[in-house]
This record gives sequence, C-alpha cells and structure tokens, in this order.
Amino acid sequence: MLQYVNVNIDGANIRAPRGTSVLDTAIEYGICIPHLCHVSYLSDIGACRLCIVEHVVNGRSNITTSCTLNVEEGMVILTNTDRVRKLRRNIAELLVAQAPNSRAIQDMAVRCGVKEVRYPFRNADCVLCGRCVRVCAEVWQARAIGFVGRGKDRHVDYPFGVRPDFCKLCGSCVQLCPMTITPCDGPMKPGEEYLCGKCESQLMIAEPTPDSCVWCKLGESFGCGRYA
Ligand code: SF4
Ligand code: SF4
Ligand code: FES
Repeated sequence: MLQYVNVNIDGANIRAPRGTSVLDTAIEYGICIPHLCHVSYLSDIGACRLCIVEHVVNGRSNITTSCTLNVEEGMVILTNTDRVRKLRRNIAELLVAQAPNSRAIQDMAVRCGVKEVRYPFRNADCVLCGRCVRVCAEVWQARAIGFVGRGKDRHVDYPFGVRPDFCKLCGSCVQLCPMTITPCDGPMKPGEEYLCGKCESQLMIAEPTPDSCVWCKLGESFGCGRYA
C-alpha cells in the first residue's frame, strides 16, 4: 500500500508517495525544476546537476540534486532561490561550453539565464548525461553501450568500439540524446560561438509559466506536462 508524506516545496504543502523523488514530486505539482539527465521512466544518476535545489534542515540549507533526493515527512525544499539560480546558471553555462551544438542545451541554458559563456568551448558531442546508456539497459535490457574511460576521456561507446549483435537497433539511445537536437543554424562555426536566442521554443518563455519552468526542448521526451 502506498504511504504518503507531507513536504513543502516553494511554500506549497504537498502530499507525495514515500519513495518518490523531489524532482518527480515537483513536476507532478507543476513546479518545473530544470533537468537534463532525468527521464521519468529511467533510474536517476545525478549526472547533470541542473536539478539542484535547497533542502532546508533545522534552518540550514544544503544544495542537492532533486532527482536523487527522495521525499521525507516534513521536508522543506526551495527550488528557485537566488543561490540556486546562480549555481544552476553556472552549471548550464558549463554544459553549453561542453556541447554548444545542442539546441536542447542551448534552450535550457537560455532559460536558466545564461547570456554568454565564460568557459572555453569544447565542442564535445556528449555531455555524459547517461540517458542513452540507461534506456539501453533498463528499457531494452540490451546493455549494448556503456561509459568508457575516465576524466576527460570518458565517453559512451559499444564494447570494444563495435556495435554488438545484441544491439536491437531500437534507436532509443539516439531519440533520448540531447545532442541530437541541433540548433536551427546547424552546428556552431568557429568565430560564431554565441547563443543566438532565436529558436522558436525560446519564444515560449513569454507564455505564463511557473518561474522555474525553463521550457526545455527536452520536456517533449519525458512528458513533463507542458508538452502533453
Ligand atoms: S539502438 Fe542498440 S545501443 Fe541504442 S538503445 Fe537500442 S539496443 Fe541500445
Ligand atoms: S551520447 Fe547523448 S544521451 Fe548518451 S550520455 Fe552522451 S549526451 Fe547523454
Ligand atoms: S536531472 Fe538531476 S542531476 Fe540531472
């Protein structure tokens, strides 16, 4: 039988099933916390850190990722404070520097308040969010791809770099990858490393939404509610 706990998120008193994450609870109640590596039907690994919130305990607050934090009785969570917004903006900025050619990440960053990127562009084709690895293992039970290497060399690959026979060619890894949503003008060219802010989805920010909603393009793939 489901057991419920009472939590407070941004001043709203919410009853949520024990064992649910703070992020899922917030989304369920229309409080959109920006998130990238989270997909509602996959396990959470806390890879992107975009979903950080303040968890207030005895008057002191800790910054933590809301996708890996489960609701508990009496929990107090703040999702949109100055401190959270500043840290989140920096995380989003680092993600753009890592992979500036993803429209999903550009959109997310713009909505997190990033106007310019102070870090050198790496033009990587992966932000190590692990969406592809998890969908392959958890939905298709294939484990045809995984993380390889450490530090700067860490990337996603097939075993020994060759597609195995047990890859089911389902395409889910590609479908969930934020890198496959390219900017309208295509990949960035040298000397044009800026966020254009012209994407259609970026204009949606003019519509009434909770302050914390970033209208991320990724919302389409996990049905956050705004794209239903
Ligand atoms: S296409 Fe292959 S590697 Fe990709 S999710 Fe499906 S089984 Fe895994
Ligand atoms: S390949 Fe795409 S989905 Fe997989 S970890 Fe990298 S960015 Fe994420
Ligand atoms: S969505 Fe929580 S760390 Fe990525």
